Amino acid sequence: MAVTALVGAQWGDEGKGKVIDILAEKSDMVVRAQGGNNAGHTVVANGTVYKLRLIPSGILYKNTTCIVGNGVVIDPGVILSEIDDLISKGVDVSHLKIDARAHVILPYHLAIDELSEKARGAADIGTTKRGIGPCYMDKAERIGIRMCDLINSETFREKLAHNTKIKNDIIVKIYGGTPVSFDKIYADYTEYAKRLAPHVCDTSVLVYNAIKAGKNVLFEGAQGALLDLDVGTYPYVTSSHPVSGGFCIGAGVGPTLIKECLGIAKAYTTRVGKGPFPTELNDEVGEQIRKVGAEFGTVTGRPRRCGWLDTVILRFAVRVNGLTGIALNKLDTLTGLKTLKICVGYNKNGKRVDDFPADISDLEGCEPIYEEYEGWTQDISGAKSLKDLPKAAVNYLKAVEKLIDCPVKMVGVGPDRTQNFMIR
Ligand code: GDP
Ligand code: IMO
Ligand code: MG
Repeated sequence: MAVTALVGAQWGDEGKGKVIDILAEKSDMVVRAQGGNNAGHTVVANGTVYKLRLIPSGILYKNTTCIVGNGVVIDPGVILSEIDDLISKGVDVSHLKIDARAHVILPYHLAIDELSEKARGAADIGTTKRGIGPCYMDKAERIGIRMCDLINSETFREKLAHNTKIKNDIIVKIYGGTPVSFDKIYADYTEYAKRLAPHVCDTSVLVYNAIKAGKNVLFEGAQGALLDLDVGTYPYVTSSHPVSGGFCIGAGVGPTLIKECLGIAKAYTTRVGKGPFPTELNDEVGEQIRKVGAEFGTVTGRPRRCGWLDTVILRFAVRVNGLTGIALNKLDTLTGLKTLKICVGYNKNGKRVDDFPADISDLEGCEPIYEEYEGWTQDISGAKSLKDLPKAAVNYLKAVEKLIDCPVKMVGVGPDRTQNFMIR
């Protein structure tokens, strides 16, 4: 396994948390490198459901060092409540390390996320309203407050005083909102800092040393390729880089050190938030997938939009991430559908489109071209290998491999950590 990156290959929620938890058993280190608590990664272990947002999904194994890298944006109150929740379930969190350079989400980021979405009206992005975009904006503007600033009370006071003034002008004068209180933030965040300080260090050094020592290191992606700020469906994207290149920047490692890249996909497609979705199903099939697959957001509880598997998207994910394999989750959710459709390309005004368009306005009028595959009715949730799957399910997997020119290496047939098997 050595050094492996794991990324979302669609619009997020592909089951990354589950796969990381499975692979983490044999890993020495799991590293998050981007996003924040917009992510919601579900791990189901021994009947207990863990919903992780900032803490890497390797946390359940006490010998796995869990890293929150410099590219992650951290809401201290949220990470502390996650820590407390894990402790209450008997999980040891002393092996959690947070990078000193990671940026901190503050109450004014949450306020601006909310107010700017409201101001966009019908053109809103449908963000998770967790302050992610505004925090990354401050990072790019070079006024962000980092973990190393937070744990130094004098630096924190100075930077917070400066930022609160500017942000309150934006909140009040531009959006007509309610100002945030410097005193309250300073008091709350000073308490958070005391509790988080023992976890803060230079994680880039830890990651490098682990790789040099030949340890098994897993990079845990958040979100998915189509939500990438640069190559995703802009502007309906998040403000970080969920593609594999994001690990280099967000964990402070060079690209030559990452050897394998596993893309996580569902056997169909989902999306939360706004933006184009060519294979979306606004009918009873979409409803059945949402119901059977329990497709409701982990973070916001919003119903996820559901549609057929789109291999134009998966080919895009293979290309922009350099995928060496795919893990296909939730094959079990398709059980009972008589005919399954896979989108193999788009038809735009009589012309075939094989590559996912760079400009989302080019997606308008793109009609999916489908191939149809026979469904199956047998319960597959106990399958432990390809031999346990009905022929139609094996055919479906083979078709996907062929259409995306990338091997399916793992299959998911249920939410529990035992309901996954390797093919290769
Ligand atoms: P992530 O954000 O990529 O980690 O994915 P989420 O946890 O947000 O969403 C995936 C959902 O599907 C969770 O509720 C998982 O427990 C569930 N899940 C993951 N893999 C499978 C699978 O193979 N079958 C079924 N039925 N559910 C799965
Ligand atoms: P995981 O890691 C699915 C979506 C939001 C919105 C857009 C921008 O669980 O797969 P943001 O709050 O990031 O500024 O919102 O991105 N989004 C996700 N969708 N899974 C996620 O994370 C997501 N994180 C953000 O719904 O459309
Ligand atoms: Mg999720």
